[in-house]
Amino acid sequence: MDDKIRILLSEEEVAARVKEIAEVISRDYDGKPLHLICILKGGVFFTCELAKRINLPLTMDFMSVSSYGAGTVTSGIVKITKDLDDPIEGKDVLIVEDIIDSGNTLAYLIEVLKQRNPKSIELCTLLDKPERRVKDQVKVKYTCFTVPDQFIVGYGLDYDQIYRNLPYIGVIEQQ
Ligand code: IMP
Ligand code: MG
Repeated sequence: MDDKIRILLSEEEVAARVKEIAEVISRDYDGKPLHLICILKGGVFFTCELAKRINLPLTMDFMSVSSYGAGTVTSGIVKITKDLDDPIEGKDVLIVEDIIDSGNTLAYLIEVLKQRNPKSIELCTLLDKPERRVKDQVKVKYTCFTVPDQFIVGYGLDYDQIYRNLPYIGVIEQQ
């Protein structure tokens, strides 16, 4: 736990941007019910803050996936370790993620969820690392921040399961 962490986005900056994105989402769905799907565990802090700011009849569900990959890039071979509790058929679905890196995890997940016939399915992410993208069919509708290709922690994002609870978004400095 003696890594040095440099703050990239402060608690206040994140809160302000999450509120802004929630207002855009509220406007876009125009009073219609919205079904948020939080991707555990990284998406949990963002989902909670976002949900509190969205002014729509809102339902929530949670899904957990693990992605196998060699080294630091995920492979796109994804295992659903916790599936949704409720069907999504006929619903306007918004997937909420912590970060989109290669896009492999989301590309797979969107295909799986589309087969369950939602009315619509869109993607909202706290962070996007576009430089790392290998799956360009992943279209992100709502992005809070675009970040450089560095390893990010905090606000749900972990390094070996640690640092998720940092209230800000930071980068581990190379010692
Ligand atoms: P992808 O399949 O490569 O897009 O991987 C996405 C997942 O990898 C995210 O949901 C995170 O759990 C994890 N991930 C990617 N980049 C980072 C990072 O910089 N910090 C922490 N986790 C990351
Ligand atoms: Mg994740």
